[in-house]
Amino acid sequence: MTQFERIIILTGAGISAESGLDTFRDKGGIWEKYDLMKVATPEAFARDPEMVHEFYNLRRAAVKTVHPNAAHMALARLEREYPGEILLVTQNVDDLHEKAGSRNICHMHGELGKIRCRSCRQVMDWWDDLVTETVCPLCTKSGQLRPHIVWFGEVPFHLNKIAQFIENADLFISIGTSGQVYPASGFIQAATDAGAHTVELNREPSDGYSLFEETCYGPATEVVPQYVENLLKEAHA
Ligand code: OAD
Repeated sequence: MTQFERIIILTGAGISAESGLDTFRDKGGIWEKYDLMKVATPEAFARDPEMVHEFYNLRRAAVKTVHPNAAHMALARLEREYPGEILLVTQNVDDLHEKAGSRNICHMHGELGKIRCRSCRQVMDWWDDLVTETVCPLCTKSGQLRPHIVWFGEVPFHLNKIAQFIENADLFISIGTSGQVYPASGFIQAATDAGAHTVELNREPSDGYSLFEETCYGPATEVVPQYVENLLKEAHA
C-alpha cells in the first residue's frame, strides 16, 4: 500500500557536503569566508561585478570536480521507484541531483551551470569562468551576463509551483538545510498547515527542528538512503 501520494523534498547544502562542497553556515562555511553582502546581492554586483564573478567562478569550478553521493542517489532512486508524485525542491545551485538522476527538480536559488543576459534576457548553460567583458553568445553585447543565481533581495524561482504542490502534499522531508533562509524556511509551516507528515533529516537539529513530527540525525549519506529504503519498503508492502 502506498502510504504517501505526494511527497515534497527540500534539500540544502548539507546534502552536498559529503561530496566535498562547503555549506554556508557551518564552521568554516562559505559565509565565514565571504561577506554575503559583497558577493550575493544585486547591489554587490552593481558595485563590484568582478568580485561577484570571481566568487561564482570559484564555486562553478568546485562543482565541476565533485560527484553525487549516496544521499543524492537515494533521492533519484525514490523518484524512479516510488509509486507516487515527488517534487524535489533544492536551495542548492550545484547539479548533483541531476547528475544522480533526479528529474523533477526546482532549483529555487538558481543554478551555477547557467547564466543569463540582462540585455536579451536569455538563460544559457555555462560552465566556464565569467568576467565583466564576456560577450553574450546570443545578442553579442558585453557587460550584461550574470550568474543565473537568486541573490539576497531577489525573488526565488518556481515559488508558485512549489506552493501549489505543498498545499496538497502528504509528506514533507527537509534534508541538510539550516532552515534559516526565507522562503524555504516557511515550507515546514505550509506543509504542517496542509496536514502533511513532516520529517527533518539533518546532521544535527536545525533551529526549527521542533516543528517537525519526525527527525533523524546523522550524515546525509547514511540517513537519507535509510529513510528512502523504508519509504520504498512501506510503499511496496
Ligand atoms: P546552511 O549552510 O545554512 O545549512 C547546512 C545544513 O546542513 C546545516 O543544518 C548542517 O547541520 C547540515 N549539514 C552539514 N553537513 C551535513 C551532512 N553531511 N549531512 C547532513 N546534513 C549536514 O545551508 P542551507 O540551509 O542550504 O542561498 O542554506 C540556505 C541558503 O543560504 C543557500 O541556498 C544560500 C545560502 O545563503 C543563497 O545563496 C541565496
